[in-house]
Amino acid sequence: MRVVKSIQPLRQLIKQAKQKGKTIGFVPTMGALHEGHASLLKKSRKENDISILSIFINPTQFGPHEDLNKYPREFNHDRRLAEQGGVDILFYPSAKTIYPREYLTYIEVNGITNLLCGCTRPGHFKGVTTIVGKLINIINPDCMYVGQKDAQQAVVIKKMVSDLNFDVDVKVCPIIREPDGLAMSSRNRYLSPQQRREAPILSQSLKKAKKIISSGERNPQKIIRLITSNIKQNSTGMIEYIECVNADTLTPLKILTGNILVALAVKFGSTRLIDNMVVRS
Ligand code: PAF
Repeated sequence: MRVVKSIQPLRQLIKQAKQKGKTIGFVPTMGALHEGHASLLKKSRKENDISILSIFINPTQFGPHEDLNKYPREFNHDRRLAEQGGVDILFYPSAKTIYPREYLTYIEVNGITNLLCGCTRPGHFKGVTTIVGKLINIINPDCMYVGQKDAQQAVVIKKMVSDLNFDVDVKVCPIIREPDGLAMSSRNRYLSPQQRREAPILSQSLKKAKKIISSGERNPQKIIRLITSNIKQNSTGMIEYIECVNADTLTPLKILTGNILVALAVKFGSTRLIDNMVVRS
């Protein structure tokens, strides 16, 4: 595995690979790698000749009061996991490499970034699309792999790629869960033992909701009420949102039909967890 910190040597390696007709799969991450990332990597390796994984804790996607400073930084651990997972090139740029002094250019997707997580994280998706757009331009991958856990992020990235005619196939991979159902996340480690015991209530509630929708419930408010009371009765989690939206467009639904995304964000103390399930009806 090659670890590359600057853009020009990375471009050189990619150019050589492309000249040999190799295809490139790309997994963007902020490090603190876990089995969710490993599953993206596995798919990339299966579908491409060369897999590139980036580790960059992107400051522009964190709000002023969010967890940028405490976000886990464990390069040696990540590097080991990346190597074991079969990464060919690990791109590990500094903040100055990505955002040199007097950086002025951002990519912003409108509309769908103001709902769900966008309500409480203004500017978050502008940071995400800017870094992902930059990484796509630097790496020029054939395929890029992102997780369904960040369902809104996946839809926003796909929209950017389509609107700006980026020549990359975005593949959204399933959520990887702990044995008790908790969706894998780099932020799970912030949970206290009690919060960790409570947190599986999120996936349990979503599972119940899925079952009820699958058996014919069409009223989103009933689903939202069910999940709300389940979480409130069984945990100390503070609900930020629970919503039923169209899974492809994120449009809020008045009647549950089509490709339904049931998504939620809940805070356990200062740790904000998100989870979701897609139901087709
Ligand atoms: O999902 C993440 O880890 C980040 O938002 C991403 C896509 C790597 C952009 O910084």
